[in-house]
Amino acid sequence: MIKPNMNYGRLKESYLFFRIAQKTKEYLKNNPEKKLLRLGIGDVSLPLCDAVIKALHKAVDDQSSKETFHGYMPECGAPFLRETISCYYKNRGVNIDSEEVFVSSGASDELGDILDLFDRSSSALVIEPSYPAYVDANIMAGREIIHLNSDQKNGFLPLPDKSLKADLIYICSPNNPTGAVYNKKQLKQWVDFANGNGAIILFDAAYEAFIEDDELPHSIFEIEGARTCAIEICSLSKTAGFTGTRLGYTVISKDLKRNGMSLNSMWVRNRTTKTNGVSYIIQRGAEAVFGDEGQTQIKQNIQFYKDNAKILTETLDEMNIWYTGGKNAPYIWMKCPDKYSSWEFFDLLLNNAQIVATPGEGFGKCGEGYIRFSTFGSREDTLKASEKLKELLHSIQ
Ligand code: MLT
Repeated sequence: MIKPNMNYGRLKESYLFFRIAQKTKEYLKNNPEKKLLRLGIGDVSLPLCDAVIKALHKAVDDQSSKETFHGYMPECGAPFLRETISCYYKNRGVNIDSEEVFVSSGASDELGDILDLFDRSSSALVIEPSYPAYVDANIMAGREIIHLNSDQKNGFLPLPDKSLKADLIYICSPNNPTGAVYNKKQLKQWVDFANGNGAIILFDAAYEAFIEDDELPHSIFEIEGARTCAIEICSLSKTAGFTGTRLGYTVISKDLKRNGMSLNSMWVRNRTTKTNGVSYIIQRGAEAVFGDEGQTQIKQNIQFYKDNAKILTETLDEMNIWYTGGKNAPYIWMKCPDKYSSWEFFDLLLNNAQIVATPGEGFGKCGEGYIRFSTFGSREDTLKASEKLKELLHSIQ
């Protein structure tokens, strides 16, 4: 009889966002008259910007005539998009060759798929609280996980020390869920650690477009030494509202080698076997994100979410509640009132204020006692949620 992958037995019963969706569905079933204020999963509420829509329409038309039609796309990405993304890096002073850019169907797919490059015996260090898919994907692959806790004391930005041992290191900056961002000096410590130990950093840059402080790095490749120890995974989901459109990109430098193997060549080998590329239409839409018009328009959308963040953080300031994030990241990480665990506070918010948030414990044990608000909701929901949150906090103080 075939033996299933028994590692699935080591996973939590359900994935965090699935569990939240089930709980909210149940609530609505029992309270059909209520309207929920959705500040849970980080899903965008604004439509795609005009420049992207125009490019998508044009690409659909291209598919209607023999001369401009495209069949299978190159597995690692269309040259026009790889080149465009390489220029995006160049404009920020980072030299990335177009052949070092791989177009993907999104960062979450890629974060799981990329594990194909590493031996199962390698260990994965996850800085927690963290996006739960890092842990789950490694458990599914049978890998040992090293949990590195972060907390208020280290600003949710732990640094490596000599006692640490890890082969793969996950870093998400700006961080989901805490919104904390490593500065260049701190990232350099991780890069030196990885180079010194032969480890590889998987750098999740999905929220880089939210950084507003000029000195903070958007890419790990802004750090000297990163080309020999890092893979960067990025996405247009939050940058340009592509959560339902799907497109991301991964950067693997040609200088990244281990045991005489080039990780860039290995990824070419993997992609050419396992994918048939991302759709021509979507890649044209993505290309428009990086044009002048696209950049102006996506920045307006990002500003809209930042204004949502301001509405929520002003309420928390007024109530004297501790939080972090909301400035260089689209998440607000709030300390729950004293007697509540994350899930208890989640239930209280849902039942008494109809607010859907994300319990901190879902991002790892050290997230216990915190709750995360997404700022990607509609303005109406955000304003109502902030009013109701204030009322609720008053009523339990
Ligand atoms: C989140 O809410 O943490 C993200 O939206 C999840 C994701 O990007 O898949």
